[in-house]
Amino acid sequence: MSALILPQTENHPVCVLGGGVLGRRIACAWAAGGYDCNIRDPDEEQRASAVRYFETSISTFLAAEGGACGTVRAYDDLETAVKDAWLVIECFPERLDFKVNMCTELERHAPRDAMMCTISSSYVSREALEKVGDETKKGICNMHWTMSPQNKMVELMTDGQTDERVSSFLSQRLAEIGYLPVQARNEPTGFVISRMWAAIKREALMIVSQGVATPEELDSVWAEMYTKNTAGPCKMMDAVGLDTVSFVEQHYAKERNLPTEHTVDYLQRYIDEGKLGTKSSKGGLYPPGTAQETAQNSADHRDALHAPTIYFLDIGLSNSPKDFFNKGRILMGGTDGRPLKTLVDRQHMPDGIAISLNLGKIFWTSMGIPSANDGCVYSTNLDGSDIQVVVPVGNIHTGKQITIDRVNKKLYFCEREGLRVMRCNGDGSNHEVLVQNGDWRNPDEMKDQMRWCVGIAVSPSTGQFYWTQKGYSKSNQGKIMRANIDFPAGQNATNRTDIECVFQKLPESIDLECDEEGHILYWSDRGELPIGNSINRASFSRLRAITDPSVKSMPEEHYDLIARNMHETIGLAVDMKNKYIYCTDLSGTLYRFNLDGGGRRKYYDGEGSFTGLALMHV
Ligand SMILES: *[C@@H]1O[C@H](CO)[C@@H](O)[C@H](O)[C@H]1NC(C)=O
Ligand SMILES: *[C@@H]1O[C@H](CO)[C@@H](O)[C@H](O)[C@H]1NC(C)=O
Repeated sequence: MSALILPQTENHPVCVLGGGVLGRRIACAWAAGGYDCNIRDPDEEQRASAVRYFETSISTFLAAEGGACGTVRAYDDLETAVKDAWLVIECFPERLDFKVNMCTELERHAPRDAMMCTISSSYVSREALEKVGDETKKGICNMHWTMSPQNKMVELMTDGQTDERVSSFLSQRLAEIGYLPVQARNEPTGFVISRMWAAIKREALMIVSQGVATPEELDSVWAEMYTKNTAGPCKMMDAVGLDTVSFVEQHYAKERNLPTEHTVDYLQRYIDEGKLGTKSSKGGLYPPGTAQETAQNSADHRDALHAPTIYFLDIGLSNSPKDFFNKGRILMGGTDGRPLKTLVDRQHMPDGIAISLNLGKIFWTSMGIPSANDGCVYSTNLDGSDIQVVVPVGNIHTGKQITIDRVNKKLYFCEREGLRVMRCNGDGSNHEVLVQNGDWRNPDEMKDQMRWCVGIAVSPSTGQFYWTQKGYSKSNQGKIMRANIDFPAGQNATNRTDIECVFQKLPESIDLECDEEGHILYWSDRGELPIGNSINRASFSRLRAITDPSVKSMPEEHYDLIARNMHETIGLAVDMKNKYIYCTDLSGTLYRFNLDGGGRRKYYDGEGSFTGLALMHV
């Protein structure tokens, strides 16, 4: 048992040291709660005006007419003011030397059981206590008042040695006089409110001093934004999205040379876990759903809030036994249970799709009739209007996967019977052949499926692009190749010497996707069970150029097989924002998995024969 004695409050006054703006209000708050209050202030005028304030303003502090109200008296002499007090509240200007001296004085004059509070908002109270004894420290705590009587919040914080009974005793007394006590959870510099207020003041002063807004304009913006809004800053940040908040903070940090430890770096931990706020199924600063006050507060509903819109292609084969070459469609759907919408129809075996929000375009490839040199690359607006030819018929034999290098602003696409990998600008200009695996005009070479190029992915961060050569159907001859984005000088698409094979003898590798943040390559595989018909991945660092033609690329040894049992899977897209993998298959199903292949979900069933897919986050 420690020597701490809790004070008797009945017939004992509260003493407030300092009768300034805040001190006189604190005195009135206690007086309105029935306590007599002694203000001690060495300045005569200050004393008179504090008492006058009590006389004219106490009515605004009283909760109801007729409650017991205490008195407020002012004294010059410290000993008289603190005599018999059960609580002494130091209410000095923010100068540490004042506070240190006063604490020592009090130790000498205040009753032994009196509780003492410092109201310092920016000094930790232990700094003010350097000269007082350890026993005294137990009865001292930090008590921070906001502008009473409008705000009725009082924060309490330990001085590092405050007895827990002191804090809870004070909380109870504050609640009795109609105030809301808040306990700061540890001992940082400044209280919760004063620190937030400090930031607001700093920015407000900067806005005014830079002439961005007048004080009146700033205050009216504040009233509109914050007083009508019941959500606090954390809910508001969740609503904005922590990724966006981080961008804004990064910008300020750069412009003003600020440290990022408690802003950008802290936010990054949430972003890395896919916790982006309200829009994310994993939540943000708040757990999922907390900040989302909607009628349908189910997990599925939350999941759908930030789910991308999914564009995918129906190759058309299952729509009509006869005219299937003209039955391809671009479809739009999602994981929120919405029906599929057809954006574009009457397409000729569409296979690959990519979306550029910057350009406002959907790009897709058409296989045409596979044996004929009639492939094409098209674009359309996001709503399906204004279809344009990007790469005209005659320049691409049988279009397959298409992707966008968003850094270098290029479209990359593969083609099968034409045996090539190509790229061009968004408007089709600068069309280049990057890889040429033979001459498609030679029927033997054209039919040699080992030369067919299918999937494509670009990794600007490593300066390489990857493509698949699927090999004969289900023949365990699939390959994944790579080469440099920068074309080697003095070489051409046939003889370039920087081409490497990183996987070979895969069941039947099809579409590719690069995760540029995680440095991971994902691919879909259409081959046979047990390891085909799957989704697979390998980090870039595991990729090695294979020179020995007998090496078989096997899961576990060379890559991770993460999901299986689709029906002829083709399209693949990785949603890095929400950390999901999507894929489509020829039976007309859209699948979603977690990044490790778990959490399998199916959307749509038998609504076509799906090939490529692309995600759009808005
Ligand atoms: C590759 O082709 C280019 C263009 O035809 C030619 O200039 C170059 O000499 C060739 N290099 C090799 C190694 O054959
Ligand atoms: C590349 O150059 C070689 C000669 O070095 C030639 O045989 C080949 O046809 C060229 N390929 C292309 C795609 O121009």
